[in-house]
Amino acid sequence: MNWEKKILCIGAGYVGGPTMSVIADRCPQYKVTVVDINADRIAAWNSAQLPIYEPGLEQVVERARGRNLFFSTDIDAGIAEANIIFVSVNTPTKTFGHGAGYASDLQYLEKTARHILAVSEEPKIVVEKSTLPVRTAEAMQRILDSNDKGIHFEILSNPEFLAEGTAINDLENPDRVLIGASETPEGQAALQEVIDIYANWVPRDRILTTNVWSSELSKLTANAFLAQRVSSINAVSAICEATGANVDEVAFAIGQDSRIGPKFLKASVGFGGSCFKKDILNLVYLCRHFNLPEAAEYWEWVVRMNEWQKHRFTKRILTTMFNSIAGKRIAVFGFAFKADTGDTRETPALTVVRDLLDEHALPVITDPQAIPEAKNDLADVLDLVEFTEDPYESVKGAHAIVICTEWQHFKELDYQKIYDSMEKPAFIFDGRNILDHQKLYEIGFEVTPVGKAGYSRL
Ligand code: UDX
Ligand code: ADP
Repeated sequence: MNWEKKILCIGAGYVGGPTMSVIADRCPQYKVTVVDINADRIAAWNSAQLPIYEPGLEQVVERARGRNLFFSTDIDAGIAEANIIFVSVNTPTKTFGHGAGYASDLQYLEKTARHILAVSEEPKIVVEKSTLPVRTAEAMQRILDSNDKGIHFEILSNPEFLAEGTAINDLENPDRVLIGASETPEGQAALQEVIDIYANWVPRDRILTTNVWSSELSKLTANAFLAQRVSSINAVSAICEATGANVDEVAFAIGQDSRIGPKFLKASVGFGGSCFKKDILNLVYLCRHFNLPEAAEYWEWVVRMNEWQKHRFTKRILTTMFNSIAGKRIAVFGFAFKADTGDTRETPALTVVRDLLDEHALPVITDPQAIPEAKNDLADVLDLVEFTEDPYESVKGAHAIVICTEWQHFKELDYQKIYDSMEKPAFIFDGRNILDHQKLYEIGFEVTPVGKAGYSRL
């Protein structure tokens, strides 16, 4: 087969998998291969049970897999034949040494760069897809330039803005695609190659080009701004609870201002996900590195506010339930960090469950997708927690329901039936403000939402 381009993606995770699937689906003239060191993950990508849950992903994979989309563990062969290599390996926050707790751990990225260098026999375009600290491309360029084969590698930055749960739509109809390249003739030629890929389905005016550093910094900044909005509305939720205002009404009122806009103003138990905290801490690290302590502290408060919100939520559970939840069965509705994903990275539900365990409560976790991940996250306390996919099972004999994830499914349950099987008084703590609180109160529940008055007879 005479492929127009051979594209490789190293890293078959939440970013690499869906992104490459959509590229392959939209560009049948390219061969797209996704490789990973994790053989189980690759086997799952080649099976009917994909390794990640993402609405619409299955159909996209089914259309392209075996045609021009391939999942493999043969990283060497993938590198050898590719013209363009996307790097989408994990870059978790460092847990050790200099910058621990803030900087990104770039060991997987560096290993990948060395791997590309070892196997390549001809020039390649290498595209950073993972979220990375600013100037990572420079470090990668240095590693790749340290070859005596005389091969030129051109490094580009093309950060991914997809959100989990809506990844396929975000990829198919992106607000923008951002590509950063160097201003050299080689950089501009490589840039055109990557523009050509997206131009297959993205309108040209949505493909933005910048220098490499602006592209890297834009990704961190976009996530910092989004997280800041959530922390801001969550800070307001605390004021609402104290004053009798209603955070949903306040969010609606301010969102009507076209300068503010209505999106991303939903008060909650706190934000989670693999990106927000990591990216802000990266930004904080960068600010400190460049001796900008005030800017560092400013951004760090977005994360601190989020931590506070999560613990504040569990504290309200405790005080509302007469300061004693020891020995009480508490159904936790949702463990994923948001709806429509099985991902639990940085999920607020984990903080809530650990806080409940500290109080010797008996949490029962129910989630339609995230039970396997929840079991991993709670591996050290498995004997103290129950898990079930059936919410009706989780509430039997429970004193309270704590909603941590906004699954549509939770809105459609029979709450009369649930109430009947619970201990009384039956409490609901709606950490996502998704239920009809008035109706729940009429059934008999004691209801505590976020950022507005609850309903109580006590
Ligand atoms: C985010 C960015 O949106 C995406 O552009 C980037 O590529 C990766 O990081 P993601 O983490 O998948 O995506 O989900 P997102 O929808 O941004 O939600 C993050 C967290 O914030 C979730 O826990 C969500 O529940 C919470 N959130 C979001 C709120 O609590 N309130 C809101 O109004 C919006
Ligand atoms: P993200 O959310 O950024 O996609 P994930 O953790 O879901 O992050 O995916 C990253 C993937 O990268 C994992 O499947 C991991 O096994 C893979 N990976 C890490 N290091 C390497 C490497 N050196 N070569 C190939 N794959 C790697």
